[in-house]
Amino acid sequence: MKEIKFRANEPLLADSLLDNLSRVFEERYLSPGPWVTRFEEKWANVCSASYAVGTSSGTAALHLALLACDIGPGDEVIVPAMTCPDTLNAVLFAGAQPVIVDIENQRFGIDPKSIDEAVTLATKAIIPVHMYGCPTDPEVYDIAERRGLKVVEDCAEAHGADINGKLVGTIGDVGCFSFRGDKLIGIGTGGMVVTDDEHIRDRANYLIGLASPSGFDRYASTEIGYSYEMSNVHAAIGVSQVDVMDETIRAKRGVAACYDALLPDTVVRKPIQFAGHVYWRYVILLNRGQPRDVHEKLLELGIETLPPFVPMYRLPMYNCNRPYTDFTVSEDVYERLLCLPASPYLRQSEVEYIVDSLLSVL
Ligand SMILES: Cc1ncc(COP(=O)(O)O)c(C=O)c1O
Repeated sequence: MKEIKFRANEPLLADSLLDNLSRVFEERYLSPGPWVTRFEEKWANVCSASYAVGTSSGTAALHLALLACDIGPGDEVIVPAMTCPDTLNAVLFAGAQPVIVDIENQRFGIDPKSIDEAVTLATKAIIPVHMYGCPTDPEVYDIAERRGLKVVEDCAEAHGADINGKLVGTIGDVGCFSFRGDKLIGIGTGGMVVTDDEHIRDRANYLIGLASPSGFDRYASTEIGYSYEMSNVHAAIGVSQVDVMDETIRAKRGVAACYDALLPDTVVRKPIQFAGHVYWRYVILLNRGQPRDVHEKLLELGIETLPPFVPMYRLPMYNCNRPYTDFTVSEDVYERLLCLPASPYLRQSEVEYIVDSLLSVL
């Protein structure tokens, strides 16, 4: 196995991290504990949202958000074909039916044009996924409003991304973040539900544990609870890591600008430069069928690239696509997409090395 010189991503780590962790251990609260509330308040503040509920993962955040929107058996939820399986898993955990639609090839998010034909009387919600740090086409929100559908934003890959100055996660009814270690803000594992809706906040807070009243009646569950609370240890990491979010985004935008300047348009399709893009990943399109080979050859040179998500309708457990649905863009992107290293630590000379290596293997 070749040593990896350039990882796909690495976290910037905040100076306060070890101090905060020491305090957690001095205070002897592993879970639950006061750092969860601190992180929730800080994250709500970052997003300019009224409420935030910390969870054990991004998937848990999505599941809770759907339940809190009263989505369940008999309901359909529109999801993009290219996303992490977690998006669809959360819909299925809630007992609802994911309806997979095609993506568009600029932002790699849900294609607004594909929504209308997917809507039925059973459709209750849309989950726009802000892919690779790029905000979804804003038309998706207009369609949802026109159709009376809830919008549950999947922001696992797009902390700090915005549409016209409004952060993703605060545009729809509820936003769901992941803080898994490979995310733009990583804490190891964890997630957050963000909303301005008191009912959603209250339902999420009720279902997150044992679904019981607090105090002496804490074991008097009235429904099935999910044990999705964030740990105090991870929350303390989160309180620190929020402080490096702006620096991480600045660094990643800098890395993206370097790639943009160095990569020739004749050889690769570079990311379209949307305002509000935070470049969690730097995503290029190659010729059809090239990415696997390029991935292997770059790995030989110590450069870690990442493959595309396999379109959801190709995965055996989601037997839920409609026969008439056209997945032309998802198929094309699946055959062509590759994520280049986008560590915030990358220097100009290192991006030059990665680009030279890519051009040589092509
Ligand atoms: C688009 C998307 N949604 C949801 C998730 C789930 O987050 P977690 O791994 O924290 O459960 C991820 C990533 O892991 C993701 O990339």
